[in-house]
Amino acid sequence: MADEVGRDTLNSDRANHSSAPAEFSFLPGPVLLLGAPGVGKGTQAQLLVARYGIPQISTGDLLRGNIASGTQLGIQAQEIMSTGRLVDDTIVNQMVLHRIHEKDTRRGYILDGYPRTLDQANFLDATLTDLALAPNLPVAAISILVDYDQLLRRITGRRICPICKSIYNIYSNPPATVGRCDHDGAHLNQRPDDTEAVFIERMKTFEEQTAPVVAHYRALGRFQEVDGDQPVESVIAAIESALLDLRNASRPQLTPSN
Ligand code: AP5
Repeated sequence: MADEVGRDTLNSDRANHSSAPAEFSFLPGPVLLLGAPGVGKGTQAQLLVARYGIPQISTGDLLRGNIASGTQLGIQAQEIMSTGRLVDDTIVNQMVLHRIHEKDTRRGYILDGYPRTLDQANFLDATLTDLALAPNLPVAAISILVDYDQLLRRITGRRICPICKSIYNIYSNPPATVGRCDHDGAHLNQRPDDTEAVFIERMKTFEEQTAPVVAHYRALGRFQEVDGDQPVESVIAAIESALLDLRNASRPQLTPSN
């Protein structure tokens, strides 16, 4: 199963990271973006990608890539995702394991939507102590917070470009031309799980299975909370400030100018 998952992953995901110059020394380690559906993990990950030139590893995107490619993994995942439940831990863990061994992760990476269960968190923690991946540091976990009503509006208003993966919102961040991507003119898509009914189930899943993961990283330290209910630019500023704090806490010999 691991080989199959890895092959499916590699076939379906070529990270959408840019070749932007990396401010490598700034990063405190692999960055985890944690939070409920719609808090802005993907939006903020794309900004970090552009700024640091490291890849975004989104388990949701990896799974949707498999669905689009019609792989066996995608066929299994599609039914689960459409109901707001989580895909099997072993499948997701193997998918991530293969992805973080790719060459482009050597300068760091952003995990978006993983880990989402305590089993996944324990797997990741154990994996990182074994890996010789650079930066050879434990994760820096950022938990983004947004209230329920705002999340529902964000989820039902989200539209995504199928070509460049840009994220829009018909309420807060509409494209210049209705239904078209600003960058390539493609017709924007709405995710099948972005209905109110599935959102309610995704939120239940988050509270039951992912809230304990947030508590896990809070208890381990190298964790900060960020208010996600502010403009996108303010959220990224808060995340960078949190990452700076975490870096300075773990590498006290460095100063912000390093
Ligand atoms: P996944 O794709 O990971 O979905 P999610 O975690 O529910 O998160 P979203 O992608 O919905 O939201 P986001 O936080 O990225 O928000 P975004 O930036 O887009 O997972 C989907 C499914 O896959 C799961 O339900 C599960 O079945 C499966 N799966 C995935 N990972 C798994 C795992 N590890 N284990 C098992 N199963 C797994 O923003 C949302 C909207 O808000 C956008 O329209 C955006 O423009 C807008 N917005 C963003 N920021 C702001 C802001 N500051 N102000 C106003 N609007 C904003």
